[in-house]
Amino acid sequence: MDLETIEREAVARLQSVGSLQELEQFRIEYLGKKGKVTSLLKDLKNIPPEERPVFGKRVNELKEKIERLFETKREELQKLAEREAQERLRVDVSIPGARRKVGHTHPISKVLEEIERIFVSMGFDVVEGPEIETTWHNFDALNTPEWHPARDEHDSFYITKDLLLRTHTSPVQIRTMLERKPPIAIISPGRVYRRDYDATHLPMFHQVEGLHVDRDLSVAHLKFTLEEFARRMFGEKTKIRLRPSFFPFTEPSFEVDVFLPSHGWLEILGAGMVDPNVFLNVGYDPEEWTGYAFGMGVERIAMIKYGITDIREFVRNDVRFLSSY
Ligand code: DAH
Repeated sequence: MDLETIEREAVARLQSVGSLQELEQFRIEYLGKKGKVTSLLKDLKNIPPEERPVFGKRVNELKEKIERLFETKREELQKLAEREAQERLRVDVSIPGARRKVGHTHPISKVLEEIERIFVSMGFDVVEGPEIETTWHNFDALNTPEWHPARDEHDSFYITKDLLLRTHTSPVQIRTMLERKPPIAIISPGRVYRRDYDATHLPMFHQVEGLHVDRDLSVAHLKFTLEEFARRMFGEKTKIRLRPSFFPFTEPSFEVDVFLPSHGWLEILGAGMVDPNVFLNVGYDPEEWTGYAFGMGVERIAMIKYGITDIREFVRNDVRFLSSY
């Protein structure tokens, strides 16, 4: 190949080079050990001696020219690559941030936190008890004898004859009284278990237990505390009423309703004055100590507060439901 052709070709090739990799290909092809220009120098020996100086000079000039063009191209591509790298690193602060989907508190946890906040502000401690409970703490100590329907296997999940998943949070009353000395003011939130499943019952649900033990407590203290709770939970104007009821561990016992203008009277919890037998079971003198207790279903409170009609929504894990509270 003659020098002019090689030169023309090289200039055209170089023009179409678009990246440093392509440029390297070009370098190997023309300026490398076996490159087109280098092989011209090897051809020198086939040329008549008198033409060699002129030819050699021309080849060297060509080589230098291509090297110059190559170098210019290399600088150009290098600058381009650097600029691109910088561009990739640039942060455009005007672009809206990427929104990450964050989860949020389950409505039951929300209501639990709210209940806790209200009672803590009135001076109650928050304590917890085990979900696997002895029949003694769950029933006997709470004055619930063998023959009581709540002890029937159909309502409870037994693990052994003497161990079960607690059916209510009331056994925490017993544990707390055995551990502490009065005066005592505690609430105890937690999971409880019963063999039930329909639109208003779950086999696992949540309760908050309350217990206040001191000298000279009366139904007035019970009523004030629960009224204050209801007003803070459901609104200033909320009224409550106490209906006579029965629980083995309180005497007298009440069912407590709240009045909501939108729903009328709704039952929200059970309560009463601690039964003297319960005090005797934990070694307290019923002549010295008095107390009131209450227990509320958290799902029920959440359903009333948010107008939810099917309790199973809480455990269906449907994001459309969960994210609307
Ligand atoms: N433990 C009862 C239940 O699960 C609720 C209850 C009623 C708790 C009266 C109390 C109480 O502390 O005094 O249905």
